[in-house]
Amino acid sequence: MKLVKHIANLGYGSRKQVQLMFREGRVTDADGEVLYADDKVEHDAIRIDGEPLDPPPGLTLMLHKPTGYTCSTKDHGRLIYDLFPPRFRERSPLLSPVGRLDRDTSGLLLLTDDGALLHRIVSPKSKLDKVYETQLAQDLRGDEAATFASGTLMLESEDKPLLPAELETLGPRSARLTLHEGRYHQVRRMFAAVGNHVEALHRSRVGGLGLGELAEGQWRALSAADLETLFGAMP
Ligand code: URA
Repeated sequence: MKLVKHIANLGYGSRKQVQLMFREGRVTDADGEVLYADDKVEHDAIRIDGEPLDPPPGLTLMLHKPTGYTCSTKDHGRLIYDLFPPRFRERSPLLSPVGRLDRDTSGLLLLTDDGALLHRIVSPKSKLDKVYETQLAQDLRGDEAATFASGTLMLESEDKPLLPAELETLGPRSARLTLHEGRYHQVRRMFAAVGNHVEALHRSRVGGLGLGELAEGQWRALSAADLETLFGAMP
């Protein structure tokens, strides 16, 4: 691919703007030698204003989503894309969230520009558990774990019961829930179905991957080793 197109696709500007960056001598190699638009150069050797380029397509990120941010490119209020450099919103292919977290849910959110990988992560065949930590409005009654594990719980306006899910009680009003599927507002609707209300919801794990040291609002690119951890023993 031509350099101008490659850099424009990474969101640094329109092709016209990137052409201008070349003319202004802002695009260099690692030694500071000015590059020209028709040079043949490896991605890793390119600098813009002395800074390495963002990772090329095939990028998967992990974000520690804070509450108050919407998983959408256009909506009123704060968007998860506000937490990345503005050019990330202009990348082609686009970085899309893998599933969604509600505006009021915090925790681990994956984004990728790799469509096949996205499908693999959300596919039931991959069997990637999702773990949620919940703070509840009312004390647990004690029968919720059995209800969630039953495989017969039916949510309002759905025609198929939920798959069995595991509930671990952490305190009178706090619990960890492990899901093996992802339905709309699933955790909040499950607790509503047993007469409770989720006051705070945080996703701590997807597959084998946790947030580690990543603070709220921070993100990092996933390595091949992270992807192996995500899928665990799965092929
Ligand atoms: N279940 C919910 O209710 N909300 C989320 O954000 C994720 C799972």
